[in-house]
Amino acid sequence: MHLKTFKDYSSLSAAVAAEIIALIKNKPDAVLCLASGASPKLTCSLTAERAIKENVDFSQITFIGLDEWVGIPPENEGSCRYFFDTLFIEPLNLSPSQTHLFDGLSGNLQKECKKMDHLISDKGGIDLMIVGIGMNGHIGFNEPGVSFDKYCHVIELDETTVTIGQKYFKETTILKQGITLGLKHLMESKQVIVIANGIKKAELIRRAVGDKVTNYFPATIIQQHPNGFVMIDEEAASLLQ
Ligand code: F6R
Repeated sequence: MHLKTFKDYSSLSAAVAAEIIALIKNKPDAVLCLASGASPKLTCSLTAERAIKENVDFSQITFIGLDEWVGIPPENEGSCRYFFDTLFIEPLNLSPSQTHLFDGLSGNLQKECKKMDHLISDKGGIDLMIVGIGMNGHIGFNEPGVSFDKYCHVIELDETTVTIGQKYFKETTILKQGITLGLKHLMESKQVIVIANGIKKAELIRRAVGDKVTNYFPATIIQQHPNGFVMIDEEAASLLQ
């Protein structure tokens, strides 16, 4: 695992965007998986901005959305799909055939999981996975206690996720389950970047990189990834020795 600290959220996001751009320039048909949420928001916009300005060809990439709230429709601004559509897919003009997002409204969620598992394996795995860290140490919707051996699955959301998750929605929203890539996907990804910014993430980062690896704090798994990066701003790094 490698740790990189940046002055602030802007320089952190610019550096993560640069990683994405470099990957696509080097491997135009790369498989890229992103989380939604506050942490990767600026990374997404900066990637799209740079791609357009520098004419980087994203037409052959495969884009995978890390997770989705079960039962939340795509037009809901709090859905992961809405985030990906508005900040990444539409600005980069990605086609439906190259974008793969979970359908949180599907009547057959197990089939959604299998479809995603097959896609990832057919594509030869994920080249770059960019994830955030939740206030309970989750990655994607891999909640505390999750098995590290899982691929895509449906999970009952932790109380912290349900409470904190309200920040994405205009109105109080019932959140019960999530559908997510698993930590086995993360471990099999060729490169993983965990991004975190702000003082509220400082204790989480201290635990993620310093605590013993445990599925009760899923983000600790990053310590075991040979090409895992923790890219954070100075505030998020403030409790590291
Ligand atoms: C969202 C996701 C979540 C978030 C995490 C941090 O797609 O997978 O695991 O990455 O909850 O969220 P933010 O970045 O909003 O603090």
